[in-house]
Amino acid sequence: MYEFLTQVFTNNSILEKLTAPTGLILSLITVVVSYLIFRESTPDEGDIEEPEHPEMLVLSDYTLEQLKAFDGSGPTKLIFIGICGKVYDVSEKTQFYGPEGPYASFAGSDATMSLAKNSTTREYIPKDGDEAPDLSILSDKEREALDGWISFFDKKYQVVGKIVY
Ligand code: HEM
Repeated sequence: MYEFLTQVFTNNSILEKLTAPTGLILSLITVVVSYLIFRESTPDEGDIEEPEHPEMLVLSDYTLEQLKAFDGSGPTKLIFIGICGKVYDVSEKTQFYGPEGPYASFAGSDATMSLAKNSTTREYIPKDGDEAPDLSILSDKEREALDGWISFFDKKYQVVGKIVY
């Protein structure tokens, strides 16, 4: 036995013979394991899942007339408000902007001037065909109030499009 072992470790050709099958077995095991792992991570046809996409957001252009459809009274119950050209989706707050809410006049409208002038009536709501609100007529205080509302809406609501005049 001792003689054999000495031969194994001194004679290269015997060592090669012994290690060659071991290498082969190891290679086979690697191939089989890789195949099993690969098979595991590749779903069979039929159970391929749809790729997950984040919810798609389509930004649209709205004329004042088109915006009117989004006052919460339509079948979709969507409520959009335009402020300084941006259209926000405020549908989640029907208690404020719904038909019975205190700020219903903003719903489906351009509320820029109303917010600047702290008005909840329709006095400053532009009508179809009107020009874009002229911000240069606002006092510093009104402009400040408007900027405050813009950052409020930017933080709280999703922008869904822009107003085209
Ligand atoms: C007597 C006067 C008013 C009272 C007592 C009042 C009260 C309130 C209250 C309690 C809120 C909710 C605040 C919160 O959720 O933390 C609110 C929100 C609001 N108010 Fe007034 N308000 C008054 C006048 C006005 C006026 C004149 C405007 C016109 C610019 C206005 C515009 C708004 C808007 C845009 C909101 C935000 C609603 C949202 O969360 O989207 N309010 N108000």
